[in-house]
Amino acid sequence: MPRAVRIVEVGPRDGLQNEKAIVPAATKIELINRLSDTGLVSIEATSFVSPKWVPQLADAAEVYSSIQRRPGVSYPVLVPNLQGYERARAVCVEEVAVFAAASEAFSQRNINASIDESIERFLPVLERSREDHVKVRGYVSTVLGCPYQGEVPIADVVRVARRLYEAGCYEISLGDTIGMGTPVKARQMLAAVADVVPIDALAVHFHDTRGQALANILACLELGVSVVDAAVSGTGGCPYAKGATGNVASEDVVYMLHGMDIATGVDLDRLIATGRWLSEQLGRETNSKVARAAA
Ligand code: HMG
Ligand code: MG
Repeated sequence: MPRAVRIVEVGPRDGLQNEKAIVPAATKIELINRLSDTGLVSIEATSFVSPKWVPQLADAAEVYSSIQRRPGVSYPVLVPNLQGYERARAVCVEEVAVFAAASEAFSQRNINASIDESIERFLPVLERSREDHVKVRGYVSTVLGCPYQGEVPIADVVRVARRLYEAGCYEISLGDTIGMGTPVKARQMLAAVADVVPIDALAVHFHDTRGQALANILACLELGVSVVDAAVSGTGGCPYAKGATGNVASEDVVYMLHGMDIATGVDLDRLIATGRWLSEQLGRETNSKVARAAA
């Protein structure tokens, strides 16, 4: 078990990208500013993807250039290609994330490219980011199942994770995009990836569609993973993954970790207050059980 875990808060990006009603830029900015006051050190702010594909995040440049960037906090953004990278750099982004999938069917639907084509597209992004001293995180989606293909062989996850790591991503986040995984399978998948990518360079990203996320995270912590993605209030889901629902709630992850004496640096009360504020803005109840219990 790690003694400390870095939470990558993906609420402003993954959490909001699938919202039906357009969330005002001012709300997104306030969300990121509030999250910056909780002790989180990684807050994924938005995506510089095609606004036709994800209209909710069409205001990426406005949001990014209006947030108060706190020293010591990283604010990565998603970029699918060089065009997205250039838009991000125009507003002084210092960390980006590229995103591939382990399943061909999902890759086509999400980014209109095969897995190999998508990695080809990322190479110029990685090259430019090296020159610009920009950090690049890499996502692998559908690591425990795909809404279109069903089972995803572990060998495919390993292959894509290895390629992203060898291409220069400093960290690979393994995404259970529609929450199909269960703990033993999650652990087997992580162990296989950890044979080719150091465990310190791996993160886990669980959607809680079937209520398995905390159990899966615990199984992965036991293998030594120390970076966990989560979204405040348990919002989230990919608009191009049929059946996707929210990420595991950050409040629930922090509560579990602190209960096991694993440090996160996050002030749980402030995080709960931020999640409560967000669910008021979105006009619905939080998905965080810890936040509900604290009400
Ligand atoms: P395409 O239609 O094949 O792209 O989309 P294209 O290169 O043919 O360009 C078409 C149009 O988009 C052009 O405009 C481009 O300029 C524009 P037009 O000439 O028609 O006016 N365009 C852009 N505009 C702004 N920024 C850009 C950009 N790129 C092209 N960066 C593309 C290909 C990859 C762009 C598209 O499929 C796309 O944006 N997909 C993003 C989908 C997405 O954001 N999904 C959610 C994130 S992934 C996720 O949630 C999973 C994760 O959480 C992990 C997990 O849970 O597993 C990370
Ligand atoms: Mg996700």
